[in-house]
Amino acid sequence: MTSSQDEHPTFDTGVAHVARVYNYWLGGKDNYPADREAGDQAIEAYPDLVLSVRANRAFLARTVRYLAREQGIRQFLDIGTGIPAANNTHEVAQSVAPGCRVVYVDNDPVVLSHARALLTSKPEGATDYIDADLRDTQKILAQAARALDFSRPVAVMLIAIMHAIEDDDDPYAIVAALMDAVPPGSYLALSHVASDIVPAQAADMVRRLNRLMFEKTTPRSQADVARFFGGLSMVEPGVVRVQQWRPDTETEATTPSSMWGGVGRKG
Ligand SMILES: C[S@@+](CC[C@H](N)C(=O)[O-])C[C@H]1O[C@@H](n2cnc3c(N)ncnc32)[C@H](O)[C@@H]1O
Repeated sequence: MTSSQDEHPTFDTGVAHVARVYNYWLGGKDNYPADREAGDQAIEAYPDLVLSVRANRAFLARTVRYLAREQGIRQFLDIGTGIPAANNTHEVAQSVAPGCRVVYVDNDPVVLSHARALLTSKPEGATDYIDADLRDTQKILAQAARALDFSRPVAVMLIAIMHAIEDDDDPYAIVAALMDAVPPGSYLALSHVASDIVPAQAADMVRRLNRLMFEKTTPRSQADVARFFGGLSMVEPGVVRVQQWRPDTETEATTPSSMWGGVGRKG
């Protein structure tokens, strides 16, 4: 059954939560035994998982750098921020252009408790944090307007979050609502757990996580992930394994992952 939008994850350390499990995989300290148990169960099913998570994090940094440096994007709406780690969106964007404005959105209370670390903007730019559920796009768009100018291009970042939205919550309509709100010249950057890169391992990993973790994971195929970019022009090389999206080094390009990622342009 799908959880309702009011169902805000509580600060229950006895049940694994995706933000803390992801923090564990990245080598962070903001996690508890239940998170580590779920994290280890998943690694047992898919031993390359930690490399895959790192490849996703590198994809996040490359897409932000590409958008800021090569496309001149100065506004980012990063939904599903996660517990701060190395190379958060505003750090990467403002290293290219200090005037970048970044709005973070997450619904996890632990991420909220770390919001201060995300609000360390360079004086020329701005950062803001919204405590909201991705499914409540109206709230997100209304509050994001505090820091973002929706008459100018915005990069909507949905990195490793859409697989936390079940089919019953119409994930495609959520992405369409966000992209409808931004003007031509805006971008969508998205990555997603794949059902069809290492199918047997991914299915086992997801089965274990869904037994132990509060948020349920829905892996999707390359074709289903490509549907999130409906109506947008794909930036080369399209929807690919995250490590193959414009890698900077041979090591980045050859790191294993079980995630699809891509960037599309509106208008
Ligand atoms: C796997 S982490 C990804 C972090 C970061 N985007 C990255 O790729 O490194 C997913 C994040 O999405 C958040 N999240 C999951 N479902 C959400 C929802 N329905 N609304 C808002 N945030 C959500 C989790 O709390 C978590 O922090």
